[in-house]
Amino acid sequence: MSDADSGGSSSSNSNIERGGDSDEAVAAGRDGRGLRESAEADPESFWARQAEEGLEWFEPFDAVLEWDRPFARWFVGGTTNACYNAVDRHQHERADKPAIIWEAEDGNQRRTISYGDLFVDVQRFANVLKSLGVRSGDRVTICLPMVPELAVAMLACARIGAVHTVIFSGFSAASIRERVSDSGSQVVITADGGYRRGRVIELKKTIDEALSGLGSVRHVVVLQRTRHEIAMSGPRDKFWDDLVGAAPDACPAVPLESSHPLFILYTSGTTGKPKGVLHGTGGYLTHVHSTFGWAFGAGDNDVYFCTADIGWVTGHSYVVYGPLMHGITSVMYEGAPDHPGPSRMWQLIRDHAVTIFYTTPTLLRMLMRFDGPGEGRGRHGGPSGLDTLRLLGTVGEPINPEVWRWYHERVGRGRCPVIDTWWQTETGGMLISPLPAIEDTIPKPGSAARPVPGVEIDVLDDEGNPIPVGTKGQLVVRKPWPGMLMTLWGDDARYKEAYWKRYPGLYHPGDYARIDEDGYVWLLGRADDVLKVAGHRIGTAELEGCVVSHDAVAESAVCGVPDEVRGQSIVVFAVPRSGVPEAGHDRLASEIVKKIRSEVGSIATPGAVYVVPRLPKTRSGKIMRRLLKSLAVGGEVGDTSTLEDADVIGEIRRLLLSQKP
Ligand code: WTA
Repeated sequence: MSDADSGGSSSSNSNIERGGDSDEAVAAGRDGRGLRESAEADPESFWARQAEEGLEWFEPFDAVLEWDRPFARWFVGGTTNACYNAVDRHQHERADKPAIIWEAEDGNQRRTISYGDLFVDVQRFANVLKSLGVRSGDRVTICLPMVPELAVAMLACARIGAVHTVIFSGFSAASIRERVSDSGSQVVITADGGYRRGRVIELKKTIDEALSGLGSVRHVVVLQRTRHEIAMSGPRDKFWDDLVGAAPDACPAVPLESSHPLFILYTSGTTGKPKGVLHGTGGYLTHVHSTFGWAFGAGDNDVYFCTADIGWVTGHSYVVYGPLMHGITSVMYEGAPDHPGPSRMWQLIRDHAVTIFYTTPTLLRMLMRFDGPGEGRGRHGGPSGLDTLRLLGTVGEPINPEVWRWYHERVGRGRCPVIDTWWQTETGGMLISPLPAIEDTIPKPGSAARPVPGVEIDVLDDEGNPIPVGTKGQLVVRKPWPGMLMTLWGDDARYKEAYWKRYPGLYHPGDYARIDEDGYVWLLGRADDVLKVAGHRIGTAELEGCVVSHDAVAESAVCGVPDEVRGQSIVVFAVPRSGVPEAGHDRLASEIVKKIRSEVGSIATPGAVYVVPRLPKTRSGKIMRRLLKSLAVGGEVGDTSTLEDADVIGEIRRLLLSQKP
């Protein structure tokens, strides 16, 4: 990256016009221009080459893409295995190289797991799964804290063709239950507990509650992490160590057809029910392998640290599969990013000589607050001594230009490219991002730059027409890409409806965007009723469903309002049933908070709950969330002509003013 910070100017420059590659980049073998040209000329051959060069195949594929719109099958007929590509392929050259360097939250415990160790662990655990009756195609739910066994369990599933479905360990029992039941998992892998801010999180207890009465689950494997006392139930529950101790050493990786399902990952959509995003094997791995390489590069001396929990897609693609396929060393951290203090991340980077750091805007905004101005910066928790870093990335939410600049100047000392990577659970891997390993990109803070080679995007108006340069519209992807989801688990109809109906034939991610005159993409937030709170995707419908299931609530509407650190904060409006006295409204509000925390999870804790007499609606009875959002931030409500009864606005505004601290 030649210029430290072009300050977001949109003036055109020669680098961009030439396709983003400087002559030095090409000379250095970073031939982004060549990649882009071949991708444009023939995308299928381009992806075929990525698949052939990036992955190990047992049998070569016969066809690159079978596109039975909107169902894509990539690398048809080829057989491969995700675990083989992440682990076995490194055994000759990298058996002693650290694959995962894990650090416990308290910092007292560190483990280095080499590629050789991983090879031993995944085979044993794959044999454990087999001994529990797990067969190819069976779903296995994994709900573990951030410990290396989480990666081992996923890879062991992949090794024998089982479909892993990882659930973030911070979810509530009800959310876990819904996901276990939807996926039809008969085996659940969990731990006694985990650590968060020094406290023990009672994971096994939550799992017991989640599985209570769910007869379909035959086995629960319990890793002992905290070793606090837990209830073990009958023949169903078994300890990880006991099973592994009794398992044979060798378990070959099974050749699987490229479209064999690798995992289901549940994510929020615009209805109450979470979507089980299903990814295949060969296409997904090719996409993740290529994008990891283009974005981060993969030198043998790199130490890579991605702060995502493996419970989210970033953890799947860029903590587990991406870095391991490239044979690099990855740092994995167990606990809260600011525990015991705000310099925790910087300490991890220093102690492990991290070269590549990939995190979220929310975490950066949080850490930025501890970086005081002027002399002595860094002393009180700000970044310092981060000389090993060479590349910085973010994902999950739009990054504000001020935060981008702070990241670039204070964390990267102006020396490291900052890449803002746009993608989704559904896309499997990055679709829009600067790619410093293959080309120079003049940075524009706040823009994710251009789509990756082989991916064609556009921004359209509501009717599907192309819009003028620089205008806000809906982002679409024009052609299938290898990391694309295969479907939603057990629900092809919802898959079609959610992503392919709005603009027939085009993939519709549900984000607003604009493309500027240099072809840079600016992501402008969700265009639907999905919120991004601290980078987590939360559906308003799911929350509303939870709120109205409270006996005293008649109706509810949930919206997101801007939040300085978490990007968005959740605001709940609830209409009480008749007969609930006004004196009981405060209590109702706190019960709603409790209910959301216990039924959805603490990540969805609302920033505010307002108990209101009624909600603004159109004449056809649709709740006008846009108005509620404006009211919640104290702004003007704009056009209210479609409102059924305009008095409601004044009513709610008065109520909000009286409740504001
Ligand atoms: C948002 C996370 C702006 C976007 C990998 C998308 C972003 C949703 C960015 C997917 C970014 C992700 N800039 N917005 N760089 N990256 N998003 O499935 O709204 O948890 O649709 O995947 O996050 O969230 P998900």
